[in-house]
Amino acid sequence: MADVLLGIETSCDETSAAVLVREGAGVELASLIILSQDVHRVFGGVVPELASRAHLATLPRVVERALAEAGVGWHAVDAVAVTSGPGLVGALLVGVSYAKALAYAGHRALIGVHHLEGHLFAPLVEDPELAPPFVALIASGGHTLLLDVPAWGRYRLLGGTRDDAAGEAFDKVASLLGLGYPGGPEIERLAASGDPARLRFPRPLVSEGYDFSFSGLKTAVLRAAQASTDLATDRPQLARAFQDAVFDVLVSKVERALEATGYATALLAGGVACSRTLADYAAARLRGRARVVAASRRLNADNAAMIARAGWFRLGRGERSTWTMDAHAALPLPGLEASSYSPFPQHP
Ligand code: KG4
Ligand code: ZN
Repeated sequence: MADVLLGIETSCDETSAAVLVREGAGVELASLIILSQDVHRVFGGVVPELASRAHLATLPRVVERALAEAGVGWHAVDAVAVTSGPGLVGALLVGVSYAKALAYAGHRALIGVHHLEGHLFAPLVEDPELAPPFVALIASGGHTLLLDVPAWGRYRLLGGTRDDAAGEAFDKVASLLGLGYPGGPEIERLAASGDPARLRFPRPLVSEGYDFSFSGLKTAVLRAAQASTDLATDRPQLARAFQDAVFDVLVSKVERALEATGYATALLAGGVACSRTLADYAAARLRGRARVVAASRRLNADNAAMIARAGWFRLGRGERSTWTMDAHAALPLPGLEASSYSPFPQHP
């Protein structure tokens, strides 16, 4: 078991390192550095090649800074956890190669972490008492998954997106409304001043199972924007109606999963869970039936603390990665089990 673990995350456009240290029977976050790559803003989306180069240029300094802030020297680090997928393969490769070299050179334990399992562990960094069973919604720029989590490390897939991920829909709608990248925070800001009564978009698949579909909604926003004669005035309403539709669908599926499983906790994770509006809406709608858990904004966005925490869990179970560990653009979630819940619990 590790006493001091260094976590590294480079799957997309955040270069991040974190240090976790053993504290009695628990584990504490000693430092977290997140360097967001600004270069992609100019292009309105992440440019993979630029992301890899930026990771290469900054990762060593980000790691050194994380160690310095944690007040630990290299000699104390006895394990390295790194995101091995899914993500941009060139970006992942920078972190994986660096982590492997650090582990090999210093005789340290090495563990490759699934990025989405990292997102699931984010709330545990801040709330060590958090324990399954719970229903988890992971909504990021690349994925939208609904999981039944009976125990840490055991995941039953209830549903996923059939087309765009929820975060991706936010980014695309932001772009068509002339807003910046990433789109989620921009839409959340604009929607706050939008009148919810002015416009309503359809809720795709809302009364059907656990799967999601967001591409039709994006087209509906595009049509409405094209039909607008005064986009400057209508933009907040469009943002509001879009956000309301996405959140209604997301929380409806969480609600259905809670009913089917009988669980009393819902965990919201991934970049989209940075939205306070989503967390507040979910909490209000599920009040009296389930507790809604979400990490702070800093830990819901891509970061190495969540990767370190998931790695700590896997190392604690005696797992280790070997020197053949590689970066994977696509990677199945470890611990996936068949789900026994019908996607139509109200019509068995
Ligand atoms: O998990 P994440 O940081 O990166 C991936 O692994 O993809 O998620 C990024 C996504 C982006 O699509 C971004 O627009 C979305 O999370 N996001 C939000 C908000 N903040 C970030 N979506 C809605 N509302 C927000 N406040
Ligand atoms: Zn992510």
